[in-house]
Formats: sequence, structure tokens, C-alpha cells
Amino acid sequence: MDSTVPAKSRKLPTQAIGAKIFHSCNIISLFIMLTSGLQIYNANPVFGGRAGLHIPPLFTLGGWLAGGRHWHFAAMWLFSLNLLWYGIYVVITRRWRHRFVNINDIKALQKTQNSKRLSYAWHRIVYTAIIPILLLALFTGIGMYKPAQFYWIVDAFGSWEALRIVHFSSVPSVILFVLIHRKLGRKAGGEQLTDSMF
Ligand code: HEM
Repeated sequence: MDSTVPAKSRKLPTQAIGAKIFHSCNIISLFIMLTSGLQIYNANPVFGGRAGLHIPPLFTLGGWLAGGRHWHFAAMWLFSLNLLWYGIYVVITRRWRHRFVNINDIKALQKTQNSKRLSYAWHRIVYTAIIPILLLALFTGIGMYKPAQFYWIVDAFGSWEALRIVHFSSVPSVILFVLIHRKLGRKAGGEQLTDSMF
């Protein structure tokens, strides 16, 4: 270890370039998926039909149904290929072994009094939990994109309406995730951890 480096700068968190690219592509694609999805939703709200709950234009992207669909279907490639690429990356680099929540985090939740360690454990639980949520968005999205080919996805949810509602649930899940993830990231590692992701 280089003793001329000040102790503080030695501790700065760093991230692999692959993780940074995945993270940024996720932010961009999820922003587009969310806002264009809400535009599509407005054309025929699953909650209350055409006279039902509408989303204000400030939160939508595309201007009208076809515009929203163009954005949604374009960003879906960025979203899903990014997820696929990250999956391959964590397997090849064997990051999956230490990147996600593990038994030590669960033990920390039960035993530690150290508030930073507790925040870190929650932080890992939350960012691990978003992965199945994103996969569910992808799975239900594929069912809605190609219902003739993937009729068994529609069948698995019982009805088209149920499939739409489950797909829509990615909206509150992702918004909630972003808010909690930001907060826990700051609590566990301060601005330095957040900055290290970009
Ligand atoms: C987390 C990411 C995503 C979010 C937040 C999201 C959000 C939404 C929302 C709110 C709707 C409107 C639902 C309705 O009222 O019926 C929608 C529709 C749709 N989404 Fe997504 N979505 C996401 C990912 C995906 C993915 C990955 C795909 C494709 C693989 C996809 C394909 C579709 C399709 C096909 C529709 C219906 C379009 C139509 O009826 O014209 N979505 N999405």
C-alpha cells in the first residue's frame, strides 16, 4: 500500500466500468419506459376505462398513443439488452458471488448496532430485489408485445386486464425503488458512493 496517499483518498469507492455503463443505461431506459408507458396507459386507462384515472401530460412522453408506443418499443431494446448484457457480465466476471445480498447482510440486520452496516445491508437487499421486479416488467411486457406468439404468458396471468395491471405495477415499483435506492446509497456510502457510480 502507498503510504504517501492520504488515508481519506485511499477509501474512495470505485466501480467497474461495466457496472457504471449498466447503471447509466438503466436510468435512461427506465425513465423512457416509465414516461412512455404512462402515455400508453392514458389512451385507455386500465383503472376506470376512458373516463378513469389519467396521468398529467408532465409525466408522459410521446404526445399521443402512437408516439408513446414508439418510445416504449425503442427503449425496450435498450432496457432488455442492457439487462441481458449485465446478466452475462456478472456471471462471466463472477461478480454475482459478492455483488448481491448474502447471508452476512441478513446476519447484520439481526446483530449489528452499526448504523452504517445496517444501511448497507438494506441497500443491498433493495438493489437485489429490483432485479426480479425488472424481469417481471420484461416478462409481462413480452406478453403484451406479442400476445399471439406468447399467449401462454397472457394465460398465466388469467386475463389481459390482469396482465396489464401487473405490467403497470412496474411504475410504482420503479419509482419507489429509485427513491429508496438513492436514500440508502447516500446513507451507506455518502455522496462518494453515489458519485462513484457515474
Ligand atoms: C420497468 C420498465 C417498464 C415500465 C415502467 C413499463 C410501463 C408500462 C405502462 C405503464 C404501460 C401501459 C399499460 C396499460 O395501460 O396497458 C405499458 C405498456 C406496454 N409495455 Fe411496458 N413498461 C416497462 C417495460 C416494458 C418492456 C421491457 C416491454 C417489452 C418487452 C414492455 C412492453 C409493453 C407493451 C407491449 C405495452 C402495451 C402497448 C400497447 O398496448 O400499445 N414494457 N408499459
